[in-house]
Amino acid sequence: MPDMGVNLQDKVIIITGASSGIGAATAIECARSGMDLVLNARRAEKLTEVARAIEKLGRKATLVIGDVTEKDLSLRLLDEAEQAFGGYYAVFSNAGHGLDRPAHETSEDELRHIFEVNYFASVDLISASAKRLIEQGRPGHLLMNSSCLAKFTLPHHSAYSATKAAQNHFCRAMRLELKPERIEVSSVHPITTTTEFFQVSQTLSGNKDFDGIVPDHAPRMFIQPPERVARAIIRCLRKPHAEVWTSFIVRATAGMMTIFPSMFDVLMRKQAAAERAKRGKAAT
Ligand SMILES: NC(=O)c1ccc[n+]([C@@H]2O[C@H](COP(=O)([O-])OP(=O)(O)OC[C@H]3O[C@@H](n4cnc5c(N)ncnc54)[C@H](OP(=O)(O)O)[C@@H]3O)[C@@H](O)[C@H]2O)c1
Repeated sequence: MPDMGVNLQDKVIIITGASSGIGAATAIECARSGMDLVLNARRAEKLTEVARAIEKLGRKATLVIGDVTEKDLSLRLLDEAEQAFGGYYAVFSNAGHGLDRPAHETSEDELRHIFEVNYFASVDLISASAKRLIEQGRPGHLLMNSSCLAKFTLPHHSAYSATKAAQNHFCRAMRLELKPERIEVSSVHPITTTTEFFQVSQTLSGNKDFDGIVPDHAPRMFIQPPERVARAIIRCLRKPHAEVWTSFIVRATAGMMTIFPSMFDVLMRKQAAAERAKRGKAAT
C-alpha cells in the first residue's frame, strides 16, 4: 500500500495574511484538501470573500481581523481555533511585505517595521503555537513563508532578505528541537509570485510609478502564480519536509551562490545598474 502521508481531512490550519496572494490561495487549497481554517489579515472585506469561497467548498472558516504586530494577535488566533474547532493541527505564518530601498538609505524605522511584521510576528505565532501543542501533547505542523531571498539577495532588498533569512534559520533550529514532540517545522521559499506583493512593496517604498504586477526585470521563466506555491504547501503538509521550493533552478542557483558568492555579483550586475538608473543615479 503506498504511503499517503498525513491525512488532512478535518484537520485545522491557521493562516495569517490570508486576504490575498499566497495566503488566500493556500487557504482555498487547504479547504479543497478537507481542512477547516482560522484566517487572519487586516482587510475584513477581502478576508470575508476568501471565507465565502471556503464555505462553497464545504469547509468552515473563522476570521480574526487584525495586524500581526498587535501584541495579543497570536493568542487570539490560537484561542479562536480552540473555540471554533477544538484546536489546530497546522499554522502557516504568511503575512509579510517587501521594501525596495538601497541598504544605506533604509531608515531604522523602516528596518524595525519590516522585522516586526515579517520576522518577530511570525516567530511569536510559531513559538506560541508550538508551546500550546506541547502542553496539549498534540502533533502539528508549523510553517513560515520565507522566500528564495532567504538564501541570497537582490540589490535594494537587503532589509527584506534579512527578515526572510532570519525566518529560515529560526525554522531550521525549531525543526530539530520539535521533532521529538511530533511537531514538524517547515519554511516556504517562493520565487517571484503574481500577488499584490510588489504593488504593496512599491507603495510602502514611496514609488508611485509602479503599475505592474511584478517588476519588469523579473525573468518570465521565474514568475509563478500563488496557486503553485499553495499546491507545494499542501504536498509538504501531507509529507513534511524542511523547505518548500517551487523552482529547482532557483534553488540550485542559490546553493551555487553560497559556495561562490562572487558569481552572484556577475549575475546581478545588470539588475543593480537598472536599479541605479531607475533612481536617477546611472551606473558609471
Ligand atoms: N510575491 C512574491 O514574489 C513572494 C516571493 C517570496 C515570498 N513571498 C512571501 O509571501 C508572503 C505573502 O505575500 P504575497 O506574495 O501573497 O503578497 P500579498 O498578496 O501582498 O499578501 C500579503 C498578505 O499579508 C497580509 N498582511 C500584510 N501585512 C500584514 C500585517 N501587518 N498584519 C496582518 N496581515 C498582513 C495582507 O493582508 P492585509 O493587507 O489585508 O492585512 C495579505 O493578505 C509574504 O511573507 C512574502 O514575503 C512573496
